[in-house]
Amino acid sequence: METSNYKGLQSVIWAGEHLDLLDQRLLPGEVIHLPLTTAQDVWEAIRHLKVRGAPAIGIAAAYGVYLGSRLEQSKEHWLHAVNQASAHLATSRPTAVNLFWALDRMRARAKELENSELDLEACKDALLGEAKAIQSEDEETCRLIGEHALGLFEDGMGVLTHCNAGGLATAKYGTALAPFYLAQEQGMKLRVFADETRPVLQGARLTAFELQQAGVDVTLICDNMAGMIMSKGWVNAVIVGTDRVAANGDVANKIGTYSVAVLAKAHNIPFYVACPLSTIDLNTASGELIPIEERDAEEITEGFGKRTAPEGIKVFNPAFDVTPSEYVTAIITEKGVIRPPFDVNLKKLFETL
Ligand code: MRU
Repeated sequence: METSNYKGLQSVIWAGEHLDLLDQRLLPGEVIHLPLTTAQDVWEAIRHLKVRGAPAIGIAAAYGVYLGSRLEQSKEHWLHAVNQASAHLATSRPTAVNLFWALDRMRARAKELENSELDLEACKDALLGEAKAIQSEDEETCRLIGEHALGLFEDGMGVLTHCNAGGLATAKYGTALAPFYLAQEQGMKLRVFADETRPVLQGARLTAFELQQAGVDVTLICDNMAGMIMSKGWVNAVIVGTDRVAANGDVANKIGTYSVAVLAKAHNIPFYVACPLSTIDLNTASGELIPIEERDAEEITEGFGKRTAPEGIKVFNPAFDVTPSEYVTAIITEKGVIRPPFDVNLKKLFETL
């Protein structure tokens, strides 16, 4: 991997005996790291968005499987604990397929280790090594995504993003934000527009924060301003991350992404989706089959502690929406830029791995 001057915050850190987790709910005001020692701690951190973003959720869950099984005293009990911790962590959030991908990988590795000649302590160490590998591979993957994405941009372009698919959502660099960091390293000027991303404000609290810290030219806008700045000609491309890509190229991402995609099409602006292969789910045929998480009404009625809606109001609060593949110009992975027809080209991509 090339050296880099990226200095972003790391959301998941293995600290020798426990997980040191940056509490993303408190950003940008406070930078607080939480010590997590059990699988239940990790479950709660994922459920309550202390760690969020598809790849980071997968990384945290992988460590959670290790934490949930490390005290067992026989190989058989250990494998059972791995499976139990994994089944529990799988209930933390439904949409990001990286969670299930990471848990499957940890379970498969544990099974292999249980059948090996290794003693129990060596098995535990090797399982921890698997979680560390998931994390370090993600860093390399994100850098490659950034390189491929950067090839789609030109000096001086305005690029809009929604939610946070940055270093905070991954091991490093991010997916959709990776090209901005690489552009910065190479002295290429991009003007980034960050949607604030209602209702939990990942764009305002996280994307604006991490890009500003890195010295990237970023302008924060409310979600409902995207059409206006597109009509002014300020946006030359949109790039977002995703929680799951279905086999036909439909894309689930943070609520509001679909509206941005429709606006982009109306203004003839390319709409790019950046993700690792672990976010592509060929077992889910189309977007309507992707499970969409619904979150508490309070996120909308009293976000950040201030009541902004009448008591007793009916609320609908899906955390994600699905952008049909016809709105997607290209999907950028660590293996390169995938263009339509996505049903054919995504399948081909996995066949050639
Ligand atoms: O609810 P969140 O904050 O976990 O939603 C995150 C997103 O929608 C991201 O865009 C997606 O996970 C990609 S992160 C590289």
